[in-house]
Amino acid sequence: MKFNEIYCGNCINIMKELDSNCIDLTVTSPPYDQLRNYNGYDFDCQGIAEELFRVTKKGGVVVWVVGDKIIKGNKTLTSFKQALLFQEVGFNVHDVMIYQKKNTPFMRSNAYTNCYEFMFIFSKGSPKTFNPIRERTVRHGKEMLVHNKGADGVNKKILKELKKEKTKNNIWCYAVGLGGTTCDKIAFQHPAVFPEKLAEDHIVSWSNPGDVVFDPMCGSGTTCKMALVNNRNYLGCDISEEYVKIAKERVSSNNLQINLFSNKQ
Ligand SMILES: C[S@@+](CC[C@H](N)C(=O)[O-])C[C@H]1O[C@@H](n2cnc3c(N)ncnc32)[C@H](O)[C@@H]1O
Repeated sequence: MKFNEIYCGNCINIMKELDSNCIDLTVTSPPYDQLRNYNGYDFDCQGIAEELFRVTKKGGVVVWVVGDKIIKGNKTLTSFKQALLFQEVGFNVHDVMIYQKKNTPFMRSNAYTNCYEFMFIFSKGSPKTFNPIRERTVRHGKEMLVHNKGADGVNKKILKELKKEKTKNNIWCYAVGLGGTTCDKIAFQHPAVFPEKLAEDHIVSWSNPGDVVFDPMCGSGTTCKMALVNNRNYLGCDISEEYVKIAKERVSSNNLQINLFSNKQ
C-alpha cells in the first residue's frame, strides 16, 4: 500500500493492509443515516473506529464530520452514537466542533433551518500537533482595562494595548456550493462534498508538512487534494469506483508545484 494514492474498496479492508501507527491525521465524513444515496453503500462504524484507532499514530487525530437525519420528526443522533463508539474503542473526544453552512435552504416549516454539522475531534492520547489558526480581533488599539482589584474591592484600570489576534473559536463557518465548497465542477458529481477550506483548516491545525493525512471515505477526494496542496502525504479510499475516479482527477488536475515526500510502506 503506497501513500499519495487513492484506492477503491471497503475502507476496513484497505486499513487492514496498513501498519499500525502510520497515520498522523484523518479528515473524513461518513455516509450518515443513508441520508444520501451512495453507490455501493456499506458502513460498519464499529469496525471503522477500531481500525482507525489501530492505524493512527500516538497523538494522532481523527476529524469526523457528521450530521443527523430526521426520521418522523425525530433526530436520529447517530452522530453522537458514533462519537460514543469512538470513545469506547479508545479515542479521546478532544473536542466537538461545529461546521456552520453559510447558505442553507429553508427546510422545515415547524423548526429552525438546520445550518450545521458536527466535527468531532478524536485523538489517540493528547494531540501531538496543534497549530492554532489565528484571526483578527474586532477591537484593537488601546483601552482602559481592569488591572487589579484593590482590597477595597475597587477595580483599578490602566491603559493597555488590546490583542490584535486571537485563536479562532470552535464554530467554523463556510460557504457551500460551487465556488464555496470548491471550484472543481467535477466534484459536484458527488452528492456530499465538504468544503476544501474545511479540510485545509483541519489539516494545518492537526498536522505538519510531510505528515500522512488519510480519508477512508474520501468521496470526491477533497481531503486528499488539500493534503497535497499543503505539502502533506495523502492516502484515500472509497467504496465507489465512480467517486475514486473523480477523486483521482481532482488530485491530478491541480497544477500547483508541490514537493511531496515519496513515502512508501
Ligand atoms: C459523505 S461522503 C464523503 C465526501 C467527501 N468528504 C468529499 O468531500 O467528497 C461519504 C463517502 O463514503 C463512501 N463509503 C461508504 N461506505 C464506505 C466504506 N465502507 N468504505 C469506503 N468508503 C465508503 C461513500 O461512497 C461516499 O463517497
